[in-house]
Amino acid sequence: DGKTFTLSNGVTIPAVGFGTFANEGAKGETYKAVTHALRTGYRHLDCAWYYLNENEVGDAVHDFLKETPSVKREDLFITTKVWNHLHRYDDVLWSINNSLEKLRTSYIDLFLIHWPIASEKDGQEKPKIGPDGKYVILKDLTENPQETWQALEQAYNEKKTRAIGVSNWTIKGLEQLLSFAKVKPQVNQIEVHPFLPNNELIQYLFKHDILPQAYSPLGSQNQVPTTGERVSENKTLNEIANARGSTLAQVLIAWGIRRGYVVLPKSSNPARIESNFQSIQLSDEEFAAVNAVADDRHCRFVNMKDTFGYDVWPEEA
Ligand code: A2P
Repeated sequence: DGKTFTLSNGVTIPAVGFGTFANEGAKGETYKAVTHALRTGYRHLDCAWYYLNENEVGDAVHDFLKETPSVKREDLFITTKVWNHLHRYDDVLWSINNSLEKLRTSYIDLFLIHWPIASEKDGQEKPKIGPDGKYVILKDLTENPQETWQALEQAYNEKKTRAIGVSNWTIKGLEQLLSFAKVKPQVNQIEVHPFLPNNELIQYLFKHDILPQAYSPLGSQNQVPTTGERVSENKTLNEIANARGSTLAQVLIAWGIRRGYVVLPKSSNPARIESNFQSIQLSDEEFAAVNAVADDRHCRFVNMKDTFGYDVWPEEA
């Protein structure tokens, strides 16, 4: 699908991006999935330092560009993110250089702060884990991420990345970020699906010309929600999909794009990689029906608070 959005600095971004987080992380799985995604037509890859597979993404991109001379690096949109233990100025710059090397590219298209949490490092390659088994939070840098943001601005000014932004950021955190940002964040990547429509945050992002990107747009199928029901098991949503002969994933992807933001489905299954990329248009009635399911829901599946020892959304606890 060729649908795109435009970031506040004029950079074009494909509406559908391929998520590269590999749950089991079996060696070679990411290479295979990304290769299949690129051959299918995906031109937008969502990566992260933390996924520990940027080298496989880089190899897949390299080999694909070699086998497909009609596609150039400029036709791809590659995002990566800096992990919590690398929020110090020099570490952010180390992180992007490290990602560029593994991704085998001289620039990326979007560089994000993965979480609004700064933690201590245990060398460059891993976060420090405290006696309680959790990350060792750097309180000052977490409460005031100006130093981190300035490093992203530096990477942007050096043209190592064509855009910068954040992930898992709240309105409160964005207010602070906007108060000191010389380069405004162009993106906030957040969990969004019909069980977590995130309307207030998304309206805030639109108002400030920050493009939302939806992760876990299919409702994070692997995790069992506290409510018991998975998005994929919702009767109404399945009826909407069945009635039109589409997959539920296609409906969920179309719903996000119609709401005006980037959607980041991920799969390691070739048939699902392909069907997720086949775009559909929802009728007004179908769109309204999905919105009705989403109304008043707020069920978050991805919260790393037990790993981090820090809750980004304490008000939800
Ligand atoms: P698989 O790799 O076996 O396809 P999310 O991004 O919402 O967290 O969900 C990702 C999960 O959804 C993956 O585990 C993926 O499993 C699964 N998935 C991806 N596409 C589809 C689809 N079209 N139908 C069902 N499950 C899907």
